[in-house]
Amino acid sequence: MQSLRRLCIVLLLSLAVCASASAQTAPKQGILLVAFGSSMAEAGAAFAAIDEAYQREFPHTPIVWAFTSQIIRKKLAKEGIHVASISEGLNILAADGAKIVRVQSLHMMAGKEFAGLARALLVNIQKHPGRFDAVYLGRPLLESETDAEETANAVLNYLKKIRQPDEAIALMGHGQEHGLADLIFAGARSIFKSKDKNIFMATVEGSHGFDRLARELIDAKVRKVILAPLMLVAGDHARNDMAGTEPDSWANRLQQAGIAARANLQGLGEIPGIAAIFARHTRESEDDLTKEPVKE
Ligand code: CO
Repeated sequence: MQSLRRLCIVLLLSLAVCASASAQTAPKQGILLVAFGSSMAEAGAAFAAIDEAYQREFPHTPIVWAFTSQIIRKKLAKEGIHVASISEGLNILAADGAKIVRVQSLHMMAGKEFAGLARALLVNIQKHPGRFDAVYLGRPLLESETDAEETANAVLNYLKKIRQPDEAIALMGHGQEHGLADLIFAGARSIFKSKDKNIFMATVEGSHGFDRLARELIDAKVRKVILAPLMLVAGDHARNDMAGTEPDSWANRLQQAGIAARANLQGLGEIPGIAAIFARHTRESEDDLTKEPVKE
């Protein structure tokens, strides 16, 4: 399949020829998109935008969604909205005849949630040996320099429409208390800064929180800032912790520090260019979880 694709590209055959040739010879594929999830109706726009982009990028390939948060899935179920878990999503693809599954993490970075996804997939594969010929796991948004550059470009392009010349941008990432998040965000932050020195970034959890953000903005003599989530959806953290009306929201604390803050409540999923990074990771993944690691 891979080599056939490559051959098609090399020979510059039309997409239709590639599609029909692979339909006859290649095992059926399926895509599982995995996000933490959100129960906020407003967050739906980000999921819908990612879904649309995937339908365009991978036509004729079944696309199934899974949320990893049990709490959110239960809450949605009470409202009559059923979103699959990881194992349910794999069951749906198997019932549909998929032999090659491409799982795409829609996480920002390979933190706790991504590790949980990888582990859940491995356990599932062990429970159902031979069910799929391959299960590829696509990496999350921010890993390579290219990923961070493309993310910065997408955010800057998007906010260009509303940003005033003297306005800084401060992104709210999620982060985590333990693990890799601080270092990955430090890398992403420095690449973002190389694109525009007036981009700042802090996280809800982890070492680089609000106090450091406020200090950096004050030191840089920033008077106006747009707050925006560095998260797939503008959910609870973005709407409450970042932009909420409570006195301890980031927006209100910045106001108190004399910095005019306004929020842009669009999740990264809604920003043009972000879905393309995930889709590239989906296409590029050669990490087949059904196979032993290649020993070199
Ligand atoms: Co959280």
